[in-house]
Amino acid sequence: MRSFEYNTPTHVVFGKDSVEKVGALVAEQGCKKVLIHYGGGSAKRSGLLDRVSQSLDASGVAYVMLGGVVPNPRLSLVREGIDLCRKEGVDFILAVGGGSVIDSSKAIGYGLANPGDVWDYYLKKKIPTSCTPVGTVLTIAAAGSEMSNSSVITNEAGWLKRGLNNECCRCRFAVMDPTITYTLPDYQTASGASDVMMHTMERYFTAESDPMGLTDELAEGLLRSVMRDVQAALKNPQDYDARAGLMWASSLSHNGLTGCGTDGGDWSCHQLEHELGGKYDIAHGAGLCAVWSSWARTVMPANPARFAKFATRVLGVEAGANDVETANRGIDAMENFFHSIGMPTRISEMGITPSDEDLHELAYKCTFMDTRTIGQFVVLDKEAIYEIYKK
Ligand code: NZQ
Ligand code: ZN
Repeated sequence: MRSFEYNTPTHVVFGKDSVEKVGALVAEQGCKKVLIHYGGGSAKRSGLLDRVSQSLDASGVAYVMLGGVVPNPRLSLVREGIDLCRKEGVDFILAVGGGSVIDSSKAIGYGLANPGDVWDYYLKKKIPTSCTPVGTVLTIAAAGSEMSNSSVITNEAGWLKRGLNNECCRCRFAVMDPTITYTLPDYQTASGASDVMMHTMERYFTAESDPMGLTDELAEGLLRSVMRDVQAALKNPQDYDARAGLMWASSLSHNGLTGCGTDGGDWSCHQLEHELGGKYDIAHGAGLCAVWSSWARTVMPANPARFAKFATRVLGVEAGANDVETANRGIDAMENFFHSIGMPTRISEMGITPSDEDLHELAYKCTFMDTRTIGQFVVLDKEAIYEIYKK
C-alpha cells in the first residue's frame, strides 16, 4: 500500500430542495458578480434556471448568464465565456448542469486567472497557477466533475479532446438534489452510471501488487451499489433513493476516495474514449463501455487474479477452475450488464463504422501524436491501442 494525500475541499449540500440554498452559498463566497453557465436547454425547460436565479436574487447576488454548453464542451464557448466575464467583471462561476457545464466553467476559470491562451494549459504547454472559483448545481450523476480536480474540453480545430488536472479548479461547493435528475433520458442515466463505475474501475485495475484492502472494499461496494441503483432508476426514474445513490456515487467515484493507497490506477479506457468523443461526439459513458471489454481482454493475462477478484466480488460470478476462467466469466458478465442497461460494448454498436485509416488516426491522437504510451496495468503503445479500437 502506498502513502497518499487526500484533498476534498468541496462543500457538499445534498438532498431535496437543496437548490434553494444556492443564493446563500454564492453570497458566502463574497464575490462581486457571478456567471451562471448552463447547457443546451434541460435546465431551462425544467424550471431549474429560474429557481437558481430567484435564489441568487433573494441573496442580492448580481449575475450574467451564458448557456449553450454541449456534451464534449467546446473551446469556442469557453473563449466566449472568458471574454464575457472580463467585460462584466465576473469573479465567480456557477455551473448549472453536468460534467460538460462544470468543465466548461472550470476552463473559463482557468482562462480568467492565467495569462495567455487557455488551450495551452490543456496541451500541457503551461501549468495553471490558479482558477477563478467555481460552484455547481449538479443535474446528472456521471462525470464526477463536481468534486474532481479535472476538466475536459474539446477543441473544434482538429477535434482534440484534452483533459487538465489541477487542484485549483475543484468546486467550492456542489449542490446536489437527486430529484433534479428525474428528467434525465434513460440513455443519459445509463451512460452516466457507467462513467461513475468506470471512474472506480479504472482505479481498481491498478498495477499495484498489494492495494489497500479498505480501498478495494469501498470500490467493490460502490460498484455493486451503482449497478443496483441504475437498474432501479431505469425502471422508475422517480425512485429517490436510487437517484440519490447514483448522485453520491458520482462524486465519491471521482474525488479520489476509491484510489487511496494505490498508484492511481490505469486510465487507458478514458484515454481511448477521449479520442472517440473528440472525433464522433458520443456520450462519454457509452464510449467507455464500448472500449472496456476489448481493453479488459487485452490486459487481463497480465494479472488474472485481479480480474477474478473483480468478477466474484463485484459481479457475483461463480469462481471457475482457475483465475483466467473466472476473469473471463467476469468480463462476459460486465458486457451483459452494460447491454442490460442499453450501453454498447463495441464501437460499432454506437452507429459508428470507422475505417482502418480512422482507427490508425485515433491511435495516433491517443498517443499524443506518437509521443506517449497509456496505461499502467499494461502499458499500451500506438499499435496496441489500434488493436483495441479494432476489436
Ligand atoms: O445540455 P442539456 O440540455 O442540459 O442536456 C444534457 C446533455 O445533453 C443532459 N442533461 C443533463 N442533466 C439533465 C439532462 N437532461 C435532462 N435532465 C437533466 N437533469 O444530459 C446530457 C449530458 O450532459 P453532460 O454534462 O455532457 O454529461 P456528463 O456529466 O456525462 O459530462 C460529460 C463530459 O464530462 C467529461 C466527459 O469527457 C464529457 O466531456 N468528463 C469530465 C470529468 C471531470 N471533469 O472530472 C471526468 C470524466 O471522466 C469525463 O471525462
Ligand atoms: Zn469518465
